[in-house]
Amino acid sequence: MNNKSENPAYCGLSQAQLDSHWMPFTGNRQFKQDPRLIVSAEGKYYTDALGRKIFDGLSGLWTCGAGHSRPEITEAIAKQAKELDYSPAFQFGHPKSFELSHRITELMPEGLNRVFFTGSGSESVETALKIARGYWRKKGLPSKTRFIGRSKGYHGVNFGGISVGGIGANRAIYGQGIEAAHLPHTMLPENKFCKGMPTEGAYLAEEIEEMVALYDASNIAAVIVEPLAGSAGVIPPPVGYLKRLRELCTKHNILLIFDEVITAYGRMGSNTGAEEFGAVPDIMTTAKQLTNGVVPMGAVIAKQEIYDTFMEQGGPDYMLELPHGYTYSAHPVACAAALATLDILEKEQLPQRVKGMSPQFQEMLHSLKGTQHITDIRNYGFAGALSIDARDGQPAIRPYEIAMKMWEKGFYVRYGGDTIQLGLPFTTDLSEIDSLVNALGDTLKEVD
Ligand SMILES: Cc1ncc(COP(=O)(O)O)c(C=O)c1O
Repeated sequence: MNNKSENPAYCGLSQAQLDSHWMPFTGNRQFKQDPRLIVSAEGKYYTDALGRKIFDGLSGLWTCGAGHSRPEITEAIAKQAKELDYSPAFQFGHPKSFELSHRITELMPEGLNRVFFTGSGSESVETALKIARGYWRKKGLPSKTRFIGRSKGYHGVNFGGISVGGIGANRAIYGQGIEAAHLPHTMLPENKFCKGMPTEGAYLAEEIEEMVALYDASNIAAVIVEPLAGSAGVIPPPVGYLKRLRELCTKHNILLIFDEVITAYGRMGSNTGAEEFGAVPDIMTTAKQLTNGVVPMGAVIAKQEIYDTFMEQGGPDYMLELPHGYTYSAHPVACAAALATLDILEKEQLPQRVKGMSPQFQEMLHSLKGTQHITDIRNYGFAGALSIDARDGQPAIRPYEIAMKMWEKGFYVRYGGDTIQLGLPFTTDLSEIDSLVNALGDTLKEVD
């Protein structure tokens, strides 16, 4: 078809319209030559511009575990928008934010009970880093400013997040970040094809001692890690690793931040990765599944002692204790979406469902071992990934081709770096996992 706007795949969009949107984390030139437009979603399926049903193998972007277009959420949003569409985030409040913050604390490990709202995962990370630095200053230890992240870590895209993040491609062109060092990642060769948590690698947490020897704890504000690294391709923590990190941070008076933007609210089979892996951070960042992806929102949860420090050192009562916040912090519509989402997760026992079905997902995913191009398989809860060998020294090309072929077959999976990533909707049933894994197996055999 010569005229693109007459091609149904383009939804009537002209090339000028397509070109006007600078899309995020997307090969814009390729996309605009061959757009993949999604026009609606329901449950675990998208409908594309050609009317095809596509299984949502990544729950949006790890966001929509409860499934799309849930009436409980859409109705709560509509009701909220009619009743109170916006209320100033600074110096005034609305009841739902307090209801929600309290609700979130009930899902947290004990002690994490003060909630700061943001508009995204990246904002949650920046907020956590600022709270950490501010906390030490309020404690009279202003030299504690350096952060320790981890190689292969992903903490969003803002300057703090890419500085502590450990994905080179996300940092390479942006110049100077903030002071950060990086722990080694935990993807050891001996853990390849390990099911769930690998047994080797807890010793890698000892690297904190090296960092303390090098920088001195008096200069280190916090360690930030994802309990399970998501965006680098689902890297579950080695047994004992997070507990050791916790011990060493406590020993050296360094705050521990868990970035749970992917792992909080069910995906691990528990309310949080902290609960699942048995280590409690001082600050936790969350977003994504909090509103089932329907309205942008994040939440940072801090230990009470951190909050109290800001309050005690806050000066006169009318003064701001933390000069930080977003126009959309605790947006009423986002709060309504989050409350409805948490209701669904609880009523339908979705974290428990994930936990119950994850052994079957694990077995089915690992049945792909031995298929050509696969160099590793990793999983935990309803998160899984395949590592794919490079073609002609280019690690990203095969995953891209695999994801595109999967899309043609009616499955959305994510490709990132040398990996294919899966984040199943929490309501996925066995036959859907089976179809997804079979389609992946067939596709791997078809790709050069
Ligand atoms: C662990 C982690 N932190 C932060 C972010 C950034 O979240 P957002 O894209 O909402 O800014 C992500 C997004 O994938 C993430 O996985």
